[in-house]
Amino acid sequence: MKIRFRIRRCSPVEKSECEPYFQDYDVEVSGGMTVLEALLKISDESDPTLVFRKSCRSAICGSCAMTINGFSRLACATQIIPEYEKMGAMVIEPLKNHSPQKDLAVDFAPFWKKIERVTPYLTPAGESIKAPVTKDDEAAIDASQRCIMCGCCNSECNALEIDPRFVAPAALAKAWRFVGDVREGGAAKRLARLSEEHGMWDCVRCVHCTEFCPKHVAPLKEIELLRSRAMKEGVTDNRGARHVESMVDSVKRVGRLDEASMTFRTLGFLRSLGMIPFGIRMEMHGKMPFPIIFPKIEKMEEIKTIFREMEEGEEKEEKKP
Ligand code: SF4
Ligand code: SF4
Ligand code: FES
Repeated sequence: MKIRFRIRRCSPVEKSECEPYFQDYDVEVSGGMTVLEALLKISDESDPTLVFRKSCRSAICGSCAMTINGFSRLACATQIIPEYEKMGAMVIEPLKNHSPQKDLAVDFAPFWKKIERVTPYLTPAGESIKAPVTKDDEAAIDASQRCIMCGCCNSECNALEIDPRFVAPAALAKAWRFVGDVREGGAAKRLARLSEEHGMWDCVRCVHCTEFCPKHVAPLKEIELLRSRAMKEGVTDNRGARHVESMVDSVKRVGRLDEASMTFRTLGFLRSLGMIPFGIRMEMHGKMPFPIIFPKIEKMEEIKTIFREMEEGEEKEEKKP
C-alpha cells in the first residue's frame, strides 16, 4: 500500500536560522516496515537531500528520535501500518524543544550541556567505592541505566518548553543513576546542586517524560526519588522543598491547601507581595477562601488518621534491618 509521508523539512538560511516547510512523499510500504525504513527508502530512491539521523536501527543508539504524528518516538521502533491505521496520517517532524539544524536533524548541544551539568560519572569518596552492591542496590538505579540519550523525554517536557534553562528529565534520570548508587561519595553535594534554580524542582510533574520514554526509564520517578532523598538529607533551603513542606503543613493544619500562606512560605515575604493582585483576583472569583479566616475542613479527624498511619509506616520502614 502507498502512504503519504508529510515531512517537516528545514533549510538553514543563516548560520543560526532554519526555515521550515513541509514536503510530501508517497511511499510504498509493506507489513512490519518502520518509519526509519521509509525515510531510508525516500532518501535512496527519490530525495537524497532529506536529512535525518540513524545508526543502530534497533532502538539502541537513540539517534533516530523524532516527532511522529505529534509524539516523540524512535523512528526505527515505530511500525508504519499500525501507526497509520491509528492516526490516519503520517506526519514526521523534528524533536520538539530542540532547534532543527537541517530537516529532521536537531541541535543536540544543549542536551549534552544539561547532561554535563549533573556530572555524569561516579565520584566515590574514600572507601565508598568498596561498598558491596546488592541486588536491591542495583535495582534502585536499574531503570536510569537503560537511558539511550534519545531526547524523547526532553522533547515532550512542558517545563523545558516554558524555560530552556531547566535541567530537564534526561539529565535528572542520569543524576539519579549516581545519587542512587551506594558507591557514590558526593550525593549530598549533587542534591544541593540539583536543588538550585532551574534544577529538579522546576519539574511540573506532567508525566510526559515517563509516558514517551522508549526505554521505560521513567524519569519522573527518578525526579521524585531525588526530591525525596534531598528532603530526607535536609537539603530544604530552596523554593521547591519549602513548597512541599508548606503544602504538607497546610493539609495537616486545615485539611486542604491554604494557598496564601503557602505562597508566603515558598517565596518569602518580599516576593509574595508581587502575588497579591493575583490573590485578590482569585478571591474575587471565589477561587480561594479568605486567607485570614481559613476554615478547617469538617473531617479533620480523617486527615489526622492518614498522617498518623503514614508516619507509623515510615517508622516501621526505618526500623527494618
Ligand atoms: S514530569 Fe517533569 S520532567 Fe517530566 S516531562 Fe513533565 S515537567 Fe518535564
Ligand atoms: S530517559 Fe528515556 S526518553 Fe529520555 S533520553 Fe533517556 S531513553 Fe530517551
Ligand atoms: S537508529 Fe538507533 S535508536 Fe533508532
